[in-house]
Amino acid sequence: MSTPHNSAKKGDFAKTVLMPGDPLRAKYIAESFLDDARLVNEVRGMYAYTGTYKGKPVSVMASGMGMPSMGIYSYELFSFYDVENIIRIGTAGGISEKIRLRDVIMAIASCTPSSFADQYGLPCRPAAAASYDLLKKADEAAEGLGIKAHVGTVLCSDTFYTDTGSLADWRKMNVLAIEMESAALYYTAARTGKNALCICTVSDCPLTGEECSAEQRQNSFNDMIKIALETALLC
Ligand code: HPA
Repeated sequence: MSTPHNSAKKGDFAKTVLMPGDPLRAKYIAESFLDDARLVNEVRGMYAYTGTYKGKPVSVMASGMGMPSMGIYSYELFSFYDVENIIRIGTAGGISEKIRLRDVIMAIASCTPSSFADQYGLPCRPAAAASYDLLKKADEAAEGLGIKAHVGTVLCSDTFYTDTGSLADWRKMNVLAIEMESAALYYTAARTGKNALCICTVSDCPLTGEECSAEQRQNSFNDMIKIALETALLC
């Protein structure tokens, strides 16, 4: 079995899949953190690997950028490949005054102006929320690693180059950061009865113009990868 976007066979994916946005990040994670990683998809360059972490099967697959892309890949993983847990690991722009460059954020819920959920035909837009079970496990994993993580809401935007006026209003709503994939992942997990969590590291702050160097981005990305892998061990 395969899909128009994924040439992996049934059984090629582990129960838990880590999803960075960037295919080269997926390759990096597989090569640097997994044992016996094998490539299971490369359709459209959206690399997916399955290997083991401390002996437990784990997969990593890129989501691409934005909700439509995340929507496609997460739907297929949950619906056709028997995946139970997806942990997005990505970057985000810090919004809240509490948030600094390189901070790690776990999104308990995601606000979105996107029409993604209109497909479900509900009388109002549903809440896009993380799996409590995954969030609890990730919090435990972060604590075990001695990494401080913020837990709060994020804004999932359809635009990277967002007019900054609206970001100041989101700050008033205590939104921690802006990214572009969490809501599609959370809605898809809810609709398919599966589990999802979005963990982000802050790579830039759109309201102040600060941004991480490439090296800082990589180091903070490694912290987040470790949290996600240790969470997968608890699943
Ligand atoms: N906006 C949206 N997505 C992002 C950002 C941002 O500023 N930084 C990292 N991902």
